Amino acid sequence: MTTIATAKAHTNIALIKYWGKKVPALNIPTTSSLSMTLDKFYTTTSAEFSDEASDTLILNATNTDSTRVSKFLDSLRDYYGDFPKVRVRSENHVPTAAGLASSASSFSALTGAMFQLLELPKDEREMSRAARRGSGSASRSIFGNFALWNMGNDDKSSYAESFYDEDINLSMIVAEISSSQKKMSSTLGMQLAQTAPTYSAWVEKSAQQLEEMKQAIITHDIEKIGLIAQDNALGMHEQNRQCTQPFDYFTEQTRAVIDFTERCYRSGLLAFVTIDAGPNVKIITDKTTEKELLAKFRREFPEISFEVAHAGGGLKYV
Ligand code: ADP
Ligand code: DP6
Ligand code: CO
Repeated sequence: MTTIATAKAHTNIALIKYWGKKVPALNIPTTSSLSMTLDKFYTTTSAEFSDEASDTLILNATNTDSTRVSKFLDSLRDYYGDFPKVRVRSENHVPTAAGLASSASSFSALTGAMFQLLELPKDEREMSRAARRGSGSASRSIFGNFALWNMGNDDKSSYAESFYDEDINLSMIVAEISSSQKKMSSTLGMQLAQTAPTYSAWVEKSAQQLEEMKQAIITHDIEKIGLIAQDNALGMHEQNRQCTQPFDYFTEQTRAVIDFTERCYRSGLLAFVTIDAGPNVKIITDKTTEKELLAKFRREFPEISFEVAHAGGGLKYV
């Protein structure tokens, strides 16, 4: 019998975003989404049965509130049968709750560890469904390279799958503007965003952008990928500003990085932005341009730390 199980999963950044839920309890989204898994940022998680009174979480060697993990484990108990309390140990090689997708890598890694511990068949589709119930974006981190999360309309039909399992030389330069914990979680942020009068228009546009994005990936057209991803992401953040309790993840530095990216694009370089639920900016470019672009950004923003990420692999057992 397995007594301890360990899995590693990478974060992913959506090129077409998930930002809203049809069924909040199950993380059934209002849109399908498409992401690239990153090599640089990941989570390693181990799980073992324990005789403690509750599930526990040790995150980066610190006892951490386990409410969300325990809720996720309860969903596994509901779906796959009851099991004892679990001790979870996790290391984030990504800032936690800073808009760099720690919930994606962590719930994907925890899903892998639990499927191993429970000796469940490692069916990727089923693991994607399970990870999705922990955090929507985690459904995509089961897979490497490009993953597509078909929104579906219930638990069975809502899962991610590999869309294009090849590195297409896309680079993401991550501008780490702040790695501190955001005030507004993704979960709450998207719930508020759905009250924007323009929200249904963003959802409708997203369906069209998804089809264009699929084509752009298949044809390795980085410029097209960047233009669509940027438009989709800026539209997502506009919903936050238009909703009934307006909020904004952008800081002054976020805006400065966006403006500088646009200037670089106008000067003839491949450079586009995408931004998740936090102030940090991911600059989309290609492997040929990344060095020149990185040097420009470092010169312009000496106070910001930049890291380059490429396509990464799917869930692994360690
Ligand atoms: P992010 O932008 O980092 O994905 P979210 O608001 O979506 O931010 O999710 C952050 C939450 O995910 C944390 O507050 C915590 O509940 C959970 N989380 C992050 N990392 C881990 C981990 N390694 N193990 C368990 N839960 C984690
Ligand atoms: C902006 O997956 O973190 O990164 O399902 O409530 O845990 P929950 O939200 P989460 O939301 C991610 C939002 C996003 C866009 C994306 O990754 O698609
Ligand atoms: Co998240």
